[in-house]
Formats: sequence, structure tokens, C-alpha cells
Amino acid sequence: MSPSPEAAAGQRLRVAVLLSGRGSNLGALIAARDAGTLPIDIVLAASDKPAAPGLALARSAGVPVYASDRRRFGKRSEFDADLFEQVRAVDAELVVLAGFMRILGARTVRAWQGRMINIHPSLLPLHPGLHTHEKVLAAGETEHGASVHFVTPELDGGPVIAQVRMPVRKSDTPERLAKRLLPLEHHLLVSVVGLLAAGRVCLEQGQVLVDGTPATTPLVVEVPKARRRRPAPR
Ligand code: GAR
Repeated sequence: MSPSPEAAAGQRLRVAVLLSGRGSNLGALIAARDAGTLPIDIVLAASDKPAAPGLALARSAGVPVYASDRRRFGKRSEFDADLFEQVRAVDAELVVLAGFMRILGARTVRAWQGRMINIHPSLLPLHPGLHTHEKVLAAGETEHGASVHFVTPELDGGPVIAQVRMPVRKSDTPERLAKRLLPLEHHLLVSVVGLLAAGRVCLEQGQVLVDGTPATTPLVVEVPKARRRRPAPR
């Protein structure tokens, strides 16, 4: 598939990032944008946690922020409607869930299907939900990783676009796995957003297309050795 007309015309993808915590994945997107290697504009960073460090990071990088608070809204649908009104107001073309820990309603997700991705710290379909590093160790697995997938109403269940993989060591703890995986996650997320910005990946009838061809398995993103060791951008 050739890139979308917008990508071919050199237009930058307008990206909104939703987060609930630290925001290191947002930091990786900002760093790649600033390095000129990712043709995106980050038009909004929004959070369900007004005190999320990721929002402070966004502010310091000049990214517009929106902080919501679930407790202000009676129903989940009202929270979603308020949040996505902001996303629409900035004309976002892609929504990236980067450590956004609140479940969005099916109606919201369907409205953004094919235009919303999530990064998850496991080799999906293994270990959806929380505590993925603990689950990998408890299952005695020898490999761990992270996935970026299109968001569907099923939690962590949408079509997987790409993954990074790494071996599990005998000495690993959940904390060590999380620390070693994080720079790989950053590389994965930047790579996938780059493919979307170039119009090379899309969702059609529930299937991931890469360069116009249905992908039968997730892309495997290789991470250069230097990047595996690089501390998480903040
Ligand atoms: C990342 O490890 C991401 O994979 C995970 O939250 C962390 C956010 O880190 N997401 C999930 O667990 C979603 N199910 P960050 O705030 O530093 O980007």
C-alpha cells in the first residue's frame, strides 16, 4: 500500500495521548518528534488523574493538556463524552493510550476504532489486564514483551499491530522485568506511530493491514542494543 494521501503530502499526523501516570511513553513520542524522526504533532495530552506526572511532562514540553476527574461524572459515558470532546476539539486523528488505566466505554471505542491504539506490557493475547510482569514469572515463561494493538471494546483484546520481545532471566523480579521492558516499549510505540503516520498500517474489517496486505501475525520490532540500555526519556 502506498502511504495515505495525507502522509504522501508530507502532512503531520495529529496525535492525542491519554495517560494516567508517569508518561514515559509520551516522553518517547515527544523525543522522537523533536529529533525529527516522527512526523507527528502531539495536539493533546489528557489524563483521568489531574496529578499525573505525565501531564507535568507534557506541560514542560509545550503540549496542551487536559485533566479530567472521573469523580466529577456520574456515569462512565459522561466521563468519556467530556474527554473525547477535548480530543475532537483539537482535531486529533490518532488517539494513543499510553498507560491510560481507565476502561473506555464500548460506544467511545467503536467511534475511534482504527484510530485508537494502546500499548500493553505483555505479549498479547497472553496476560491482558494488570500485573503482567508478575503473571509472566508465575507462569514460568522464558519470554516477555510488549504489544501495541488497535483498541476494541474487549479489554486488551484488539488486533495486535506489533510487539517487542525479550528473554526472561532466572534472576528476574517483576521490577527488573518492568525496568528492562520500558525502553523497548518506547521503541515499539514510536515505531508503530511512525507506521501509522506514514499510512502504512491500518485496520480494515477487524484486520491489521501492513502495506495493504493482511498481517497474519504481529510485526516484530527489533530494538537496537544501544536503545535497550538507554534510560527512559523523561
Ligand atoms: C507502560 O508500561 C504501559 O505498557 C502500561 O503502563 C505503563 C505506562 O508507563 N500500560 C498498561 O498497563 C495498560 N494496560 P508510562 O506512564 O511511563 O508511559
